[in-house]
Amino acid sequence: MDLKELKISLEEDIKSCSNLEDLEKIRVKYLGRKGLIKEYFKKLKDFSSDERKSAGKTLNELQERIKSFIEEKSKEFEEKRKPSIDLFIPGRKSETGSLHPISIVLKEIEEIFTGMGFEVVSGPEMESDYHNFEALNISKEHPTRDEQASFFVEEELILRTHTSPVQIRVMKSRKPPVRIIAPGKVYRVDPFDPSHSPVFHQLEGLYVDEGVSFAELKGTLEIFAKEFFGADTEIKFLPSYFPFTEPSAEVAISCAICKRKGCSTCGYTGWLEVLGCGMVHPRVFENVGYNTEKYTGYAFGFGIERMAMIKYRIPDIRLFYENEIDFLEIFK
Ligand code: DAH
Repeated sequence: MDLKELKISLEEDIKSCSNLEDLEKIRVKYLGRKGLIKEYFKKLKDFSSDERKSAGKTLNELQERIKSFIEEKSKEFEEKRKPSIDLFIPGRKSETGSLHPISIVLKEIEEIFTGMGFEVVSGPEMESDYHNFEALNISKEHPTRDEQASFFVEEELILRTHTSPVQIRVMKSRKPPVRIIAPGKVYRVDPFDPSHSPVFHQLEGLYVDEGVSFAELKGTLEIFAKEFFGADTEIKFLPSYFPFTEPSAEVAISCAICKRKGCSTCGYTGWLEVLGCGMVHPRVFENVGYNTEKYTGYAFGFGIERMAMIKYRIPDIRLFYENEIDFLEIFK
């Protein structure tokens, strides 16, 4: 192979070189220990001095050409090997979460009551029979126990069926005045249907001091109803019965949906019953060691889901627990 042929062969190899493997073949073929360039240099000793000069120069040039080609191409091929980034793939939007509707509604309710001087407290979800029933004047034989069929953990230990036991805990640990609300989860052996759930949330209210009256209870609940459901909300008190209050009442609000005209939500009565309340029973005061001559107080309790369902017209309580994104997003 003369120099000319060497040049032609190199140009052809360069032209067809398309990856790192080809590049390595070129390096070995021309620059390797037994490569063509080396071989050619060895042949130079047989040349005349003039020929040797010009052939040597050409060989050096070829050698440089190959080296720079390899250097340049190896970078290029390395780049190509890296996984490519597709700049045209649509970006992924990162979704932000939000508070659960129960948390949102609870926050609204807490703000209204803390604005009226109530303090937010909590109690255990696993409760003794004593706190959940006995101290609240619900004896072992009381029919209320059947209504609030409980989940038993042990003989005397249950998942609380209401938030009322927090009243007992607070009064046993503090002297009047106490003005608290106690929100939290409660448990009952109930079916899971549009209006029931074996787990739901309640909020308990309690205010005890000297001279607390039923009028104050009415005023407080009226302010709450108007602030929570809207200024045009009317409320009425209906006589009722709870073992831990005397007298006891049920509070109904004017139906927020039909404005008292009558609709399916309010059973065509124009009113929705939303909470139970009353004046703390003297026997409850005795149980916690409060002086019944000196102190009076009121208490109330309601379901948070029910309040949310009325305010936001949610037709099925199960929506709160199913975590359907479409439902949750309404509250974002
Ligand atoms: N604990 C009652 C229930 O779960 C609700 C209730 C009624 C709470 C009257 C009270 C009250 O504090 O005074 O049905």
